[in-house]
Amino acid sequence: MCGITGYIGPKKASEIILASLKRVEYRGYDSAGIAVSNSKIEIMKDAGKIADIEKKLDFSKLEGNMGIGHTRWATHGTVNTQNAHPHTDCTGKIVLVHNGIIENFAELKEELEEKGHKFSSETDTEMMAHLLEEEERKQPDFMRAFLAAVKRVEGSYSFVAMRQGDGRIYAARKSCPLVMGVGKGEMFFASDIPAVLPYTRDFVFLEEGEAASISASDYALYEVKGGKEKEKRKPTHVDWTPQMAQKEGHAHFMIKEIFEQQSTIRQSLAADVGEGVKLLKKAKFITTVACGTSYYAGLLFKEMLRQAGRRSDCVLGSEYLSGIYERDTIVVAVSQSGETADTLNAVRYAKEHGASVLGITNVVGSSLSREADACIYIGAGPEIAVVATKSFTSQLVVLYKLALTLAKKKDMVERMKDLSAIAEIVLSKNEEIRALAEKLAAKKDFFFIGRGLSFPVALEGALKLKEITYLHAEAYAAGELKHGPLSLLESGIPIIAIAPSDASTPKLVSNIKECKARNASVFAVSDSDAVLREAELKFVMPQVDAVFAPIIYVIPLQLLAYHMAVKLGKDPDKPRNLAKSVTVE
Ligand code: AGP
Repeated sequence: MCGITGYIGPKKASEIILASLKRVEYRGYDSAGIAVSNSKIEIMKDAGKIADIEKKLDFSKLEGNMGIGHTRWATHGTVNTQNAHPHTDCTGKIVLVHNGIIENFAELKEELEEKGHKFSSETDTEMMAHLLEEEERKQPDFMRAFLAAVKRVEGSYSFVAMRQGDGRIYAARKSCPLVMGVGKGEMFFASDIPAVLPYTRDFVFLEEGEAASISASDYALYEVKGGKEKEKRKPTHVDWTPQMAQKEGHAHFMIKEIFEQQSTIRQSLAADVGEGVKLLKKAKFITTVACGTSYYAGLLFKEMLRQAGRRSDCVLGSEYLSGIYERDTIVVAVSQSGETADTLNAVRYAKEHGASVLGITNVVGSSLSREADACIYIGAGPEIAVVATKSFTSQLVVLYKLALTLAKKKDMVERMKDLSAIAEIVLSKNEEIRALAEKLAAKKDFFFIGRGLSFPVALEGALKLKEITYLHAEAYAAGELKHGPLSLLESGIPIIAIAPSDASTPKLVSNIKECKARNASVFAVSDSDAVLREAELKFVMPQVDAVFAPIIYVIPLQLLAYHMAVKLGKDPDKPRNLAKSVTVE
């Protein structure tokens, strides 16, 4: 949940690092900082987003051709300059940035204070810089000292460190992503691919419990546990382009990525689900595990499996450990980033208990892609906005294709080819949604309601609105309102009804009438005249097969949340308190 970069090569490090940090700022934007190593270690850092910090600090004053940088999502210590990364040891000769949480931070800090170390921040990261200093006293070879210090850490981390005058940059990772970019005569570390995509498309993905060191022209890999050097791995060439990770004229990444769905829905349909079908076929039990938006995709996958004649479970990653899972279970882990700690912990627990794991992810080389027994990439391209949009519809396309192929319903898979054109029709009505957003932006306490397959869509619509407008919104299965939530209704409360024409439409119309009887104002997203005539505000949807409706009906809800956030002056790409990849529990 923090952005990390490191550079060593012929160019000015601070320029490369600043540009890279801006490309990963969606991972955390409480504060930022850069350190360079020339004749000494020099650091510039402050609280705030990079654009605000640049008004106060001139990072270009940092000279040198090797450096590290960090954008923070606070876990230990308030958001201020002292707690911003990078952090140094007592001598100022060792400097470090970190993503993750050091769980044995307090006891290590106490041990170091007893040895006379003085601390200037509240962070667990600074403690690590002093631990490195302590280990270096025991063994002057800094790689050895680095491995020994990292080995003492419990918790999650990706560290990137330098020692003055050393000519190498050191890194290690456990439960937090870290990639090594292999350039021509230059090398990089980064939290994820978009950070350094303009400089290289060749990457070595650090594995769990692995450390590495880089110079401008080479790299070495180590196993933290045993401290042994490992065989080099050939870099992986990724097919993302730098343009894919830029806004390309859009005001925000979020709106760009919403509009990309007219092509990503089509390209995700090309995903090869063969390996997944094989695993599902031979499994006695199926459990889907995911978090947030990916969990809502999992709920729809559960329904599609049911329609394919397979019962299954769908569990939140953070709740998984309470379950009892069989040896012949397949766990389908759905994660855009492939780095979500709650989901990865479930995957590791499941594997320890004998389950097989199928990963459904968007990021090549992510932890999930490497820890699963098989992996299907959703092919949505880099998703930079913190909130999931195109990755959700691409997850649905792949999960639907998986379930329908398992059920041998190839004709239905064929019919999914029409979806990108239908998505284009909805996207072409963006201005209509913007106008509706203007009317709704002053409202509070939104109810999203839907029946059957539309209930997970209601959940996702409510989450989108909450995440970026900070307005309160809840989703209910429409039939549940009368079992309690109806008591919340009063004049003017907005009810957003997700209502594709299907067998449940007559009952949904009754639910809408129940709301209107309490003077709530209904906003219908529907292609059904029976529903639309009941609504005060309406967004008429194109006709789509009821079974595929979730893939299309989520798009106006994404647009509604986006336009309301912009109207309310919020930053839809970097909502407060959130981060793109939640790599802590
Ligand atoms: C969705 O808009 C949120 N950013 C969040 O709920 C996200 O879906 C969740 O953290 C899971 O992320 P993942 O798909 O990368 O595992």
